[in-house]
Amino acid sequence: MKNIFAFALVMFCATVHAEPQKRLILTDPELLKAVGVVPTLERVDLGVALASVTAEQEAKISEQAHDWGRCGGFESLFDSELVGDSRKTSFSSSSLDKIFSGLEYRQMKEYMGFANPAPVLTLDPAILASTEKVESERIKQWVQWFSAFPTRHHAAPTNNDHVMQLKTKVEAMLAGSSIQYTVETIDHQRTKQKSLKVRIEGSQRPNEIVVLGGHYDSINGSFMGGSKAAPGADDNASGSASLLEALRVISANGQPQRTIEFMWYAAEEVGLWGSAEIAASYKSSAKDVIGVLQLDMTMFPGDGELVIASMSDFTSAWMRGLLLELNRLYINAKIIDDKCGYGCSDHASWNRQGFPTLMPFESSMSSMNSHIHTAQDVINSQSNFTHAAAFSKIAVAIAMQLGNSTLRE
Ligand code: BES
Ligand code: ZN
Repeated sequence: MKNIFAFALVMFCATVHAEPQKRLILTDPELLKAVGVVPTLERVDLGVALASVTAEQEAKISEQAHDWGRCGGFESLFDSELVGDSRKTSFSSSSLDKIFSGLEYRQMKEYMGFANPAPVLTLDPAILASTEKVESERIKQWVQWFSAFPTRHHAAPTNNDHVMQLKTKVEAMLAGSSIQYTVETIDHQRTKQKSLKVRIEGSQRPNEIVVLGGHYDSINGSFMGGSKAAPGADDNASGSASLLEALRVISANGQPQRTIEFMWYAAEEVGLWGSAEIAASYKSSAKDVIGVLQLDMTMFPGDGELVIASMSDFTSAWMRGLLLELNRLYINAKIIDDKCGYGCSDHASWNRQGFPTLMPFESSMSSMNSHIHTAQDVINSQSNFTHAAAFSKIAVAIAMQLGNSTLRE
């Protein structure tokens, strides 16, 4: 009896004194200042700060970011990126190196003239013919399919329904193809939702990889949001659909010289979790990633049909230059410059590991779709699949230009 009492007391005290669970995040130092969180470490030269925060503080940061016209405002790091525990407030130099070395490398490439200038291209009839095969109606059908799931939230009980069904659909799409490919799901440490990867093996330089990706999870509200309706039609059934249409066209082309990998990422909406793990594992196994295209939101033409923003933060100047050339030759959209102001999507995960990235976006930030992250993010009269098709064409052109040449940053 006495023992039971002592046990109960210990349990009670443990509950009362339990530290709130904290997460380590990488964010804009100004955001931390605005919400009164002291950074664990600030890298003024890289414009980022590390901080260990509670869920409550994370929500405040997100709220502040929203007030400044941004969305979430942070990337969350995961334990295997650190040596030890994410609640620590001091880190070994090898942990810090893991976190910052990719960003330092990007800074060298971007600002110190270590990157090649973007190439001047001439028209390749094969690329033109392939971009002309993109069909906007198929993109619409994919968006309808994705957005019919009540939610694709990473923590919903149904979090892998769309994943497993998509895998089957993609396998069926590729079944008749003569190219060498694999379709696989990728398990994650921090979420039970899986990412999906389709790899088209390069015939001549298979170790050189071009990545085309977008997230297929959805959310309603900033946090939790697992049980509420989250159709996520624009964010990001649209980018996922634009990628699927690009896959259909590219897979009909025969084996590329370099490997092309298509990725649909898990759990982007809670801090880029799926892509962060994948990009970290590609870095640690020293994979030669030539370029990463991110498609996140492609069907809301906020600045008009075929006006596309090229995000200039967390992306590569070389890839942005390449986009301008490919657009001039094959797409004829109007490309404007804009920035997210923080690591707003999965390209930031790859950028942070040192890889060259590109993020063409459906509109400028100031005319963005106001329905994202709500139950109203559905296909409506403003949804524009000609606009979304331009993004498939970008993916096709990037895959063919980088996939069949020796160009690199
Ligand atoms: N698609 C959005 C990002 C976005 C929104 C880009 C508006 C440009 C304009 C993305 O899915 C998203 O919501 N990302 C999170 C960031 C993440 C680190 C939690 C966000 O912005 O809140
Ligand atoms: Zn998104």
